[in-house]
Formats: sequence, structure tokens, C-alpha cells
Amino acid sequence: MQILDAAWQQGVSLWDTADVYGAGESERRIGDWRARTGHPVTVITKLGRDAALYPSGYTKAGVRASLQASARRLGAETLTLAQLHCVPFEVLRDGEIFSWLDDLCSEGLIQHYGASVETLEEGLYCLAQPNLASLQIIFNLFRQDAITELLPAAQKANVGVIVRLPLASGLLSGKFGLDHRFAEQDHRNFNRDGQAFNVGETFSGLAFDVAVDRVARLQTFVPHNMTLTQLALRWILDHPAVSTVIAGVSKPEQVAANVAASTLAALPRALHEQLFAFYEGEVRAQVRGNI
Ligand SMILES: NC(=O)c1ccc[n+]([C@@H]2O[C@H](COP(=O)([O-])OP(=O)(O)OC[C@H]3O[C@@H](n4cnc5c(N)ncnc54)[C@H](OP(=O)(O)O)[C@@H]3O)[C@@H](O)[C@H]2O)c1
Repeated sequence: MQILDAAWQQGVSLWDTADVYGAGESERRIGDWRARTGHPVTVITKLGRDAALYPSGYTKAGVRASLQASARRLGAETLTLAQLHCVPFEVLRDGEIFSWLDDLCSEGLIQHYGASVETLEEGLYCLAQPNLASLQIIFNLFRQDAITELLPAAQKANVGVIVRLPLASGLLSGKFGLDHRFAEQDHRNFNRDGQAFNVGETFSGLAFDVAVDRVARLQTFVPHNMTLTQLALRWILDHPAVSTVIAGVSKPEQVAANVAASTLAALPRALHEQLFAFYEGEVRAQVRGNI
């Protein structure tokens, strides 16, 4: 609740959640917060990874029931934006799920829909869907590939880009040493090498020791007037196709530190070029999983 209060006070007006976060608890708490405060933040959620649907139980009735449950937990009659949550590519390609979402828009259960994807190929496929409103992708200093084709395609299609993992699961704050231990229930422990879900997700797909080494290299690029966290966030915001960045936080004070990146000046073009060369030369080959 303190984090939600801090986000509101700092002017963060869009919050991302999902039905499966805390098995519904994340949506429930955000719904409680909104009911208690009456503040008009835009809450966007995701569907498609709960056991009733994932990996192969997708039906129109199931999708409707899942969205109705999210709306109940959020205390909303209609959902502003429902995002397909890393739904298997074969389900996306089948195409039916998009027509179900069109119908659920017409019914008024959702206002818009989008997709959160793992790979560039999935992202490009989703951009070709006529009514897609948003695309959520991994995009950060350790995952720059979207620059070349995906971001321009999103702009051309007038689809909003929502950037997740801006800090590569916290790595790009620069605070982790090789000896850092994560809590048992933290995905940075139990999915460190892709044991529980996609290996490309936690730490943006890098092995922890490799990532810590590359963070040290990145520190040499940080301008004197900002922190590495702010460099990482500012770098994302500088791309015109990016609509918003959803940075996770574990403490209220991290909200203020992250929001500060919004008011910094854009990075010099030469620095962007250096950071891209760093990614191509020292990072890209180390990213594991399908990207
Ligand atoms: N498949 C999907 O659609 C999907 C998957 C993953 C995430 N997401 C969404 O994307 C959001 C962001 O992902 P994420 O939280 O995993 O990754 P992230 O934003 O890259 O990293 C967030 C972590 O970085 C640390 N941090 C944040 N700000 C900091 C600061 N100012 N100084 C120091 N450390 C800071 C915190 O970790 P500590 O605990 O170490 O403090 C925080 O939990 C999630 O909240 C979720 O909404 C979606």
C-alpha cells in the first residue's frame, strides 16, 4: 500500500498487473486501494497464464470468465486494457483468441486489448492484428534488439509500446554483487536459469555472473549527473515508439528514484550509439532463450 501511495504521489498514472500475480492478490490490493482512495489511476491487467487457460485450455468462455474475475477483483465494471500474457505462439497464430477479444470489447467487458510477448517474432505477429492497442515487450540496455524492426513497426501500426523489465530484474540498478542471494520465493532465485518459466525473462536472459560483469562495464558509460538506474530508464524513454515503462519496485523510495528519469534530458546521440555497440559486441550473444 505504501508503494501504491508513493506511485500516486509521484504522478505514476498507469499500473500494470496480472490475474496470476499473487494468485489474484495483486489485483485485489490494487482494487482495494482504488476503492479506498478514489484516485483515478489507469490499471491494466493480463490474462492467459492461469491454470484454467494455460497452456492449452483457451476457450472464449474461459477467457470471458477470467476477465470477469479480474474486473471483480479490481472493482471495475470494465477493464481498460486486457493484455494476453505470454500466451503460447500457436494460440496467437490460431487467431481465434483475437476475435474473442473483439467480441468482449463489443460486450463492454474490456475497452481495449493488447499482448505481452516474449519474442520479436511474436511481437511482429501481434502488430499485424487490426485491433491490437498495445504491445508489452522486454526492452532494456541488455535487450536492445527491438530497436531495428519492432519499434518502427509498432509506431507505424499506431500500437502503444509498454516496456517491461526496464532494469533487467533490478540488475541495471547496479546494486548486485556476485555474492548476492535472493529470497527463496523470488523468481531471481527460482527462475535464475529458466527453471520455472522462460529463461529469457529473469535477468533479461543473462546468466547472473555474466550480467554482473556487464553491469560493471556499463558503469563506465554513466554520465556524471545521473545514476545507472536513471541511465537505464532514460535510455528507454528516449525511443519515440515507447509509450510507457513499467518498472517494478520493492520499496516506496525506489518509485521516486525511478520517476526522476522522466525529467532528465534525452541522452546524447553519441551515447546511444556507444550503448548499442556495447550491446552488440558484449551482450547480445550472451542472452539465453528465444528472443
Ligand atoms: N510476461 C510478462 O508480461 C511480465 C513478466 C515480468 C514482468 N512483467 C511486468 O513488468 C514489471 C517490471 O518487471 P520486473 O519488476 O520483473 O523488472 P524490473 O522493473 O527490471 O526490476 C524491478 C526490480 O528492480 C529493483 N529496483 C527498482 N527500482 C530500483 C531502484 N531505484 N534502485 C534499486 N533497485 C531498484 C527492485 O528489486 P529489489 O527487490 O532488488 O529491490 C525491483 O523489484 C513487473 O512489475 C510486471 O508488471 C510482465
